[in-house]
Amino acid sequence: MAFDLTGKTVIIVGGAGYIGAHVCKAIADHGGIPVTFDNFSSGHEHAVKWGPFETVDLRDKASTLEAFKKYKTAHSVVHLASSIEVGIGEKDPSGFYENNVIGAFNLLEAMRELALTNLIFSSTCATYGETDQMPLLESQVQNPFSVYGKTKLAIEHMIQSYHNAYGLAYITLRYFNASGADSSGLIGEEHDPETHLIPIALAAAAGLRGKMKIFGTDYDTPDGTCIRDYIHVSDIAGAHICGLKAFANGLKSTEVNIGTGQGVSNLEILQMIETVTGLPVAYDAAPRRAGDLTRLYADPERAKEVLGFTAKHSNLENIIQTAWTFHRGVWNLK
Ligand SMILES: NC(=O)c1ccc[n+]([C@@H]2O[C@H](COP(=O)([O-])OP(=O)(O)OC[C@H]3O[C@@H](n4cnc5c(N)ncnc54)[C@H](O)[C@@H]3O)[C@@H](O)[C@H]2O)c1
Repeated sequence: MAFDLTGKTVIIVGGAGYIGAHVCKAIADHGGIPVTFDNFSSGHEHAVKWGPFETVDLRDKASTLEAFKKYKTAHSVVHLASSIEVGIGEKDPSGFYENNVIGAFNLLEAMRELALTNLIFSSTCATYGETDQMPLLESQVQNPFSVYGKTKLAIEHMIQSYHNAYGLAYITLRYFNASGADSSGLIGEEHDPETHLIPIALAAAAGLRGKMKIFGTDYDTPDGTCIRDYIHVSDIAGAHICGLKAFANGLKSTEVNIGTGQGVSNLEILQMIETVTGLPVAYDAAPRRAGDLTRLYADPERAKEVLGFTAKHSNLENIIQTAWTFHRGVWNLK
């Protein structure tokens, strides 16, 4: 146990979701008490295993404040609650802005009223603009094209304003592609609808869906498919522990990428799935999707310098193996 959180309460807003559950486990593994605030809009009751739970819908300002009051001596707050499905954001921006931006505003106001000062915020590489300059540095212009990315950037700005005016200490983590599952097999990725490549490809391998689609096979990459930075969810959880330690050491504000710095193509993912599962992944080549960049991978150096964070679990085989173990359990496969 590198950093001891014994006796410290951390409020995990969105703790019933994919990444949130792994953050809760990491905090409990370090002796802390993770308190999940969630409305189960996309999270799961069965994923709340390591600490108390409060039903909270961030869109409701008054009841959000009441929940925070119960934990007003908390050491820190981790904010993961969000609408995340990019396509839904394009069709229903109203619901996205309400849930993400107004939800974050209500959370910040509750923290301000109770003088809770430490916030770790889940942002995303989707806040960056279109660029060919890889790896992506934090100094890269942020000009998101999706509604999802725009809501996350609006929240980043709001947090910076609360830091400047009210002394909020914050760490904004811009995650790249979260993937894999806890090595226990107890928690993993369970989005509905699922839009992420690895769980979709595992379902195709398991014969639980028809052929999957690979969007774009004519990109300027070695195999023609898009390249992304897959970071194991246990590493993302570890980045939060590094963040809590950085607060303890006096860090007041930062924005950092949370990625591996390695780019992996869609077809490399499918090949690793075939190797790990021993099953073929049937796919059809589909046209490119608007807005998909050819390459997207992090420069991870700033996270190392500022938080002392480096990825330890993110080799591709481990990502696929842990995801497969988790999904085999969920799908009752032998
Ligand atoms: N999964 C990724 O690859 C990825 C990449 C970059 C950033 N992120 C960010 O990480 C965070 C977590 O992502 P995830 O994949 O775990 O998503 P998720 O959907 O599994 O988890 C989100 C959680 O927030 C809860 N929630 C949503 N709106 C709420 C509200 N109004 N009040 C209370 N709870 C609410 C949901 O019920 C769910 O438990 C999100 O903020 C997302 O934008 C994720």
